[in-house]
Amino acid sequence: MRFTGKTYIVTGASSGIGQGCCEALLNESAIVYGIDLNEKTIDNPDYTHIKVDITDERSVEFVLKQIGHIDGLVNAAGVWGNSKPFFEMNADEFKRILNINTVGAFIVSKYASIPMIAARKGKIVNIGCIRSGIQRKNMADYAASKGAITSLTQAMALDMSPYNIQVNAVMPGFTYTGMTKNSFDNEEVRKQSEALIPQGRLAMPSDIAKVVLFLLSEDSDYMTGSSLYADGGFHVEK
Ligand SMILES: NC(=O)c1ccc[n+]([C@@H]2O[C@H](COP(=O)([O-])OP(=O)(O)OC[C@H]3O[C@@H](n4cnc5c(N)ncnc54)[C@H](O)[C@@H]3O)[C@@H](O)[C@H]2O)c1
Repeated sequence: MRFTGKTYIVTGASSGIGQGCCEALLNESAIVYGIDLNEKTIDNPDYTHIKVDITDERSVEFVLKQIGHIDGLVNAAGVWGNSKPFFEMNADEFKRILNINTVGAFIVSKYASIPMIAARKGKIVNIGCIRSGIQRKNMADYAASKGAITSLTQAMALDMSPYNIQVNAVMPGFTYTGMTKNSFDNEEVRKQSEALIPQGRLAMPSDIAKVVLFLLSEDSDYMTGSSLYADGGFHVEK
């Protein structure tokens, strides 16, 4: 199998897309280290849970040094924004979202890249969002943090190209996770959202994990710096 015996780090592993990526990798016999602020939600002998804040650089460095060899990283930890217009937001509120969604992905990638560079092989997959490029009101903080993921992915791809390491991103659309559960459990909100999706349904974390696993696999070896929509066609119709 594609991932048998290989070692992966997944952030945001306690919920939603991160958890879905862990489960998909474990189903393909990978060894998975999940990083999250929250407790373990996966029970599998090949899974190790590490409770760490991805914005805490010293802790991330320590943890990744202990793991050693890494075949791939998925940066899925993230938070929703403050849901208000930018002119009502203070700089600390704005910076908090960028710090988790963007700086956090930078920190984990930096320390995960050390063993990958040494091995001259590896994969990094960042989780962006349809909001990397398609906006709506009251999300300046989240949109900026996700727009930066697209450009960070491209810049990291260039830096990593000499080392045979590919860096790509997935941009999910409306996905039913811990982040969105409250909204989508409201039938009216769910129906309104589904009406915007050409394929007519929300994504489940497993839908996104399948695209992530493609980008972690050798099937995508000639792809780097790309951001792939996984949104049921939302970006086509907008
Ligand atoms: N759900 C959606 O509709 C959707 C759509 C597009 C993109 N995304 C992106 O997908 C990623 C995963 O989101 P999700 O929907 O699965 O959310 P989620 O809330 O279900 O999971 C996010 C996980 O990240 C963890 N986390 C948050 N801050 C952390 C930190 N500082 N350190 C370590 N862990 C931290 C949380 O504890 C949580 O377990 C996010 O980057 C999100 O922006 C989600």
